[in-house]
Amino acid sequence: MIKVNYIESDGTQREVEVEEGVNLMDAALDNLVPGIDGDCGGVCACATCHVHVDGAWIDKLAPMDATEDAMLELTDERDKSSRLCCQLKASPELDGIIVRTPAGQH
Ligand code: FES
Repeated sequence: MIKVNYIESDGTQREVEVEEGVNLMDAALDNLVPGIDGDCGGVCACATCHVHVDGAWIDKLAPMDATEDAMLELTDERDKSSRLCCQLKASPELDGIIVRTPAGQH
């Protein structure tokens, strides 16, 4: 199992254990982590799973594709740490990853 730390905009932190290969949006919903909506079910078509990835983990992520990049343009609060967490799959390299949810998903 891979440990994933979600930190809400108010600072509340939750660590959840995620099976390898499960994306971090599904993991959040399965573990009742607030702040991630996942309206499209994980097909990179809604951008309501926006997170800010802690800087220590950015280089360990699979690269962003053009669709994710375009969808992120729809979000408020986009910055260099922004990713759509439905596109991030739990893997051993990401054990302990920290992601922060934005104040809102619109
Ligand atoms: S859940 Fe819709 S883009 Fe990630």
